[in-house]
Amino acid sequence: MFRKTTKQLSDWLIAATSSRSFALLAPIAVALLLGACSSNHPRDTLNPAGDGAQISAWFFWLYMILDTVIFAIVVGALTIALLKFSKKKGDDDSLPPQNHGNMKLEVIWTVIPTLILVVLGVITIGGVFKLAEKPAEEQKVIEVDVTGKQWWWEFDYRDSKISTANELHVEEGTQVALHLTSADVIHAFWVPRVSGKRDATPGRSYPLYFKPFEKGEFVGQCAELCGASHARMGIKMIVHPVKGADSYDNWVKGQLAQAAAPTTALQKAGKKVFETKGCASCHTIRGVKELSQRSRTTGPDLTHVGSRTTIAALALTNNEENLAKWVKNPQSVKEAALMTNLNLSDADAKAVAAYLFSLK
Ligand code: CUA
Repeated sequence: MFRKTTKQLSDWLIAATSSRSFALLAPIAVALLLGACSSNHPRDTLNPAGDGAQISAWFFWLYMILDTVIFAIVVGALTIALLKFSKKKGDDDSLPPQNHGNMKLEVIWTVIPTLILVVLGVITIGGVFKLAEKPAEEQKVIEVDVTGKQWWWEFDYRDSKISTANELHVEEGTQVALHLTSADVIHAFWVPRVSGKRDATPGRSYPLYFKPFEKGEFVGQCAELCGASHARMGIKMIVHPVKGADSYDNWVKGQLAQAAAPTTALQKAGKKVFETKGCASCHTIRGVKELSQRSRTTGPDLTHVGSRTTIAALALTNNEENLAKWVKNPQSVKEAALMTNLNLSDADAKAVAAYLFSLK
């Protein structure tokens, strides 16, 4: 029976691989396989740029390799047994010798998996504790209160009192401690190449510790279904070098400055729109209009909004045209966005966009 089935299977494989459809499908399969190997995967958890992601990737490979070895041993032994003990031509119909278990074998195949599971369990719990380890007091730590909101992230830096949205700036080789909470529903913070994933839950604060070891920009995503625009709740982490013009300290210095004054007539008109048409009731621009008590429902601090690379939680590239589109009809960019549609005229939208983009 077994021989017959394997014969059928091999016949089918030969027929399938020599057919025309195989000739068509094979290049597609190879292309897909090669596509999976390309290096352009901004959310690749197996290409770590921070210690949190590195620990996760290490566990992935540990389990992957170990499980592959165990799979090969089990399936190999099964295949050998099937080939060796299947009925051969000329065998009579009598039953093979019967037995009732083998104590020694059963002890071996119970003890070995148990030991493997115990060792893996201990190592895994060690990894969980390592990820949750509070940074030592004496080292430099960038501490940021992170609030998930429908559908954007607020980043409040504890030391410098800077408040930004969606783009988190940190420093290469410096410990980061995020304190995650939410203003409405449960969100989840995740920048796969740098850190592990952690929920942002209303009424609670959960820490997330990591240390980025590669400079550059890393994208992330809210990883908990949180409503209509969950898919448009992106995160960008910018890891600055310690020294140079692009250093983290320079970024902090730039952000601490008051908002730039408008220079062109269009920007001046835009400032007026910001102050009079309702924007200022939810948004702070330091030196222009500061909300006395930052309520949990207000929009992002816009003091340096022009310095961001994206707007609307990565939904759009930051430029004047996109800013105008966003303020004119937020819901057209981001479904159910909570920013009020102020029914701005085209001229007002253009002016306020020019003003906002000048706030570098
Ligand atoms: Cu916030 Cu999904």
